[in-house]
Amino acid sequence: MMSLKAIAIDPQEYAALATVLAESNLMAQGLGGFDRKYYAFQDTTGWRLGVSTIEIYGRHAVLGAFLTMACHRAKGLGGQMLEELLEQLRAQGVTHVWLFARDDTGFLGKHGFKPATPQMVPDALRDNGQFADACAHARLLVRPLS
Ligand SMILES: CC(C)(COP(=O)(O)OP(=O)(O)OC[C@H]1O[C@@H](n2cnc3c(N)ncnc32)[C@H](O)[C@@H]1OP(=O)(O)O)[C@@H](O)C(=O)NCCC(=O)NCCS
Repeated sequence: MMSLKAIAIDPQEYAALATVLAESNLMAQGLGGFDRKYYAFQDTTGWRLGVSTIEIYGRHAVLGAFLTMACHRAKGLGGQMLEELLEQLRAQGVTHVWLFARDDTGFLGKHGFKPATPQMVPDALRDNGQFADACAHARLLVRPLS
């Protein structure tokens, strides 16, 4: 298994990364919080194998987009990258990771994301002005971090 690290990306590169997401028909679909951060998943040489966006609202995080670079897909890297990211979030005290899914790739379900019911949604997310709009355009999934 390859050794991977999730590294926060310099904001100067955000525009380039938004382009990478758009090339996979993926927009950062979180709640557009001011603290959205982009992460790159790098191997030990610094080579970037994928990217993700994360917004943190106290103990709750919103995964806005997640992708493996197209030429590296279906080798198990997406699963490794996701688990590495979740481990970092868990270490920061995050208890639940939320995601607004547009496409059903099956990938997220295999990694423990389940449809969320309205009662499960914490005020920290509901209070964001974008929340209702995001729910109207995508399915809300949650992965508890035990
Ligand atoms: C969804 C996505 C992130 C998966 O990334 P990935 O690196 O291909 O993920 P994995 O390789 O871990 O798993 C993908 C498949 O490869 C299979 N696989 C895992 N290890 C493998 C290996 N060593 N050899 C061959 N196949 C393998 C997995 O079983 C999985 O099979 P599935 O298609 O039946 O689910 C990637 O396809 C992507 O970036 N898509 C575009 C963006 C997107 O849709 N993101 C998700 C919503 S936010």
